[in-house]
Amino acid sequence: MKLFHAPASPFVRKVMVLLHEAKATDRVTLVPASGTPLDPGTMPVDRNPLGKIPALERPDGPTLYDSRVITRYLDDLLKAHLYPAAPRLWDTLVIEATGDGIAEAAVLMRYEMHVRPEASRSPEWADAQWDKIARALTAIEERWLSHLSGPLDMGQIAVGCALGYLDFRHAERDWRGTHAALDAWWTDFAARPSMQATAP
Ligand code: BEZ
Repeated sequence: MKLFHAPASPFVRKVMVLLHEAKATDRVTLVPASGTPLDPGTMPVDRNPLGKIPALERPDGPTLYDSRVITRYLDDLLKAHLYPAAPRLWDTLVIEATGDGIAEAAVLMRYEMHVRPEASRSPEWADAQWDKIARALTAIEERWLSHLSGPLDMGQIAVGCALGYLDFRHAERDWRGTHAALDAWWTDFAARPSMQATAP
């Protein structure tokens, strides 16, 4: 299988962490891809019309995207057991969606302030994205810390990849300063070999 890949993408990282946890990195060939909303560059637009990565080309079916589809597929294929049975599954999926939402807002902020032409950048718009992230971090701390400390699942991996991206691209916003409990969880989680191997 071919995985269209960029090491900085938190969504690609989710897929790579799953592969490391399942000890199956040898099942995919990484194909470098880069682009922006202004220029798809080498993004696989013929395989994903949205021009986004990750995209997973399979030998026996159409290319899969986005990250949540790919992780469900690989979890099933590799019997990774990173999606628990219901009812715990519903929390896992909401936590995964929350982690992905944080990552999405953080990537949009990056595009707004570094890719959009300087004259049309909106710091207010970027701040509004950050407000969304801050609310989501607080919700994770208030509702899901005990879930994050339970058996490894894709919810935890999505949150970990989102926090790693905040550290990577938005360190100056200092999310740790206002979310000490999540910071403590992340310090442990970031030490997992799968997270160390995939750090951007
Ligand atoms: C980044 O460089 O921040 C980035 C690269 C690919 C996808 C998302 C973000």
